[in-house]
Amino acid sequence: MADYREIIGTYKEVPGGIIEAYHAVQNEYSYIPEDAVDYAAQIFNIPKAKAYGVATFYSYFKVGSRGKNVIRICESAPCHIAGADKVVAALEKELGIKMGETTSDGKFTLEFAECVGQCQATPVITINSKPYEDVTAEKIAAILAEYK
Ligand code: FES
Repeated sequence: MADYREIIGTYKEVPGGIIEAYHAVQNEYSYIPEDAVDYAAQIFNIPKAKAYGVATFYSYFKVGSRGKNVIRICESAPCHIAGADKVVAALEKELGIKMGETTSDGKFTLEFAECVGQCQATPVITINSKPYEDVTAEKIAAILAEYK
């Protein structure tokens, strides 16, 4: 994984580069580490509060400590009806965390998502944007094993 310092440094001379830098960091990390925001403030020579303001203004950016693998569970109606809550329970049990939390080893974060456009094969989860369709509680252990 590229160092966020290197990534942010690339945009130093670009006008409005902080937003592009945040995009690039999030692409690499799946979120923007708080330290990266502090570093961006230095590089773009703006107050820290402003660097945070930019990062939190756009809902697309996720600032904070998310795990290396972000698992999102679609909770829109079709997935819900198809049994998404059983999948949620299985994920929470397997990882030992609740929705919205990150495992203590920093490997997994669980989040809810809106419809991800795969409603023909509900319930759906995504791991780092890769969709898994027709997920059942029984399939969870095997799916997670790919990422452990
Ligand atoms: S409702 Fe879950 S993918 Fe569309």
